[in-house]
Amino acid sequence: MRVMMTGGTGFAGSHTVRRYLEAGHSVRLLVRDREKVRRVFDPQGMAIPERDVIVGDITDAGSVERAMEGCDAVFHGAALVEMKRKLAQKVLDTNRRGVELVVGGAVKRGLPSIVYVSSASVFFEPGCPPLHLDMPIAKGTTAYAQSKSQAEHAIRALQEEGAPIRVSYPTGIVGPDDPGLSDANQAVYTFFKQTGVTTSSGFQIVDVRDLAELHLRLLELEDGAARYMAAGPMLSWAETYRVLDEVTGKWLFRFPMPGFAFRALGHVGDWIKHVWDFSFPLTRDAMEYATRWPGASGERTTRELGVHFRSAHETYADTVRWLYEAGHLRARHVGRLAGK
Ligand SMILES: NC(=O)c1ccc[n+]([C@@H]2O[C@H](COP(=O)([O-])OP(=O)(O)OC[C@H]3O[C@@H](n4cnc5c(N)ncnc54)[C@H](OP(=O)(O)O)[C@@H]3O)[C@@H](O)[C@H]2O)c1
Repeated sequence: MRVMMTGGTGFAGSHTVRRYLEAGHSVRLLVRDREKVRRVFDPQGMAIPERDVIVGDITDAGSVERAMEGCDAVFHGAALVEMKRKLAQKVLDTNRRGVELVVGGAVKRGLPSIVYVSSASVFFEPGCPPLHLDMPIAKGTTAYAQSKSQAEHAIRALQEEGAPIRVSYPTGIVGPDDPGLSDANQAVYTFFKQTGVTTSSGFQIVDVRDLAELHLRLLELEDGAARYMAAGPMLSWAETYRVLDEVTGKWLFRFPMPGFAFRALGHVGDWIKHVWDFSFPLTRDAMEYATRWPGASGERTTRELGVHFRSAHETYADTVRWLYEAGHLRARHVGRLAGK
């Protein structure tokens, strides 16, 4: 298939581009920065021809149309992931318009396969049971969470009209080769660079390579709409640190903090953002996820699509090694993973 892709220069998107090409599909990338395509793919020995790169924006109808010309499938992985208060309206507008133009545009063209990246957090409410796909869609408190929930409503409405939209719901996406440091990889980096904390609940990850595999299976589904969790290992915070100790051979400093104290910090973070508008995700939403995440199961994804979620040991070892090789962490942080 020839797949028009958004978010191809991002973390989940770039791994999905690679997987689609490996599987023999061709891609056309809608990107904001042509140079970034070279920076992301050239070092991996994957030169994307100039003709397959359209410079534009998911909020610009003209560039979305141009990118879709001649394609027979769409992957929509782009979203503005930003926690600054002053960008709240931009986040809401970008992510809503993106779904409208990219997914809505693909539906209007009658394309037979449309893959959209949602988030497991669209089901999360504080105190909720383990997440599953039939739960009501939550509202979210940050603009980003709200934008993903609003997008989810729009996608469901299109699916109900019969549109062949296949949705993945990732938990925290972790893994190597991240063009930036997206949210969950940023968290792993923070465990090493700042003080670690163990608290209630835990951290559920999905390896970016397993997510890319799911996106391939979704692209290639015979027909119809579909929804699948992209949920790998759910470990308590203590277990997460233990795995990091085991893969590095070092003991990572951490101290316990009750969940309520963490959540109070999230409220303080939301409040401080009125005065000092920082990007770091110290928000009520993020602290709720960190301390009350009930877990989600990827079992149906494995059973029906044959996507296996790798172990936390493998994901963390590869991620931390990459954080070192890419210059984010030093040898003293990563212990035995340096030079391996
Ligand atoms: N990271 C996670 O843990 C996580 C968890 C659940 C769901 N998700 C979802 O997964 C998807 C991918 O996330 P990610 O972590 O891979 O994010 P990412 O690395 O920040 O990538 C986001 C991509 O979207 C592109 N983009 C943003 N605004 C755009 C615009 N106006 N026009 C065109 N492209 C635009 C970015 O382009 P540039 O390269 O030019 O910046 C980038 O390629 C998102 O939909 C996100 O909501 C992520």
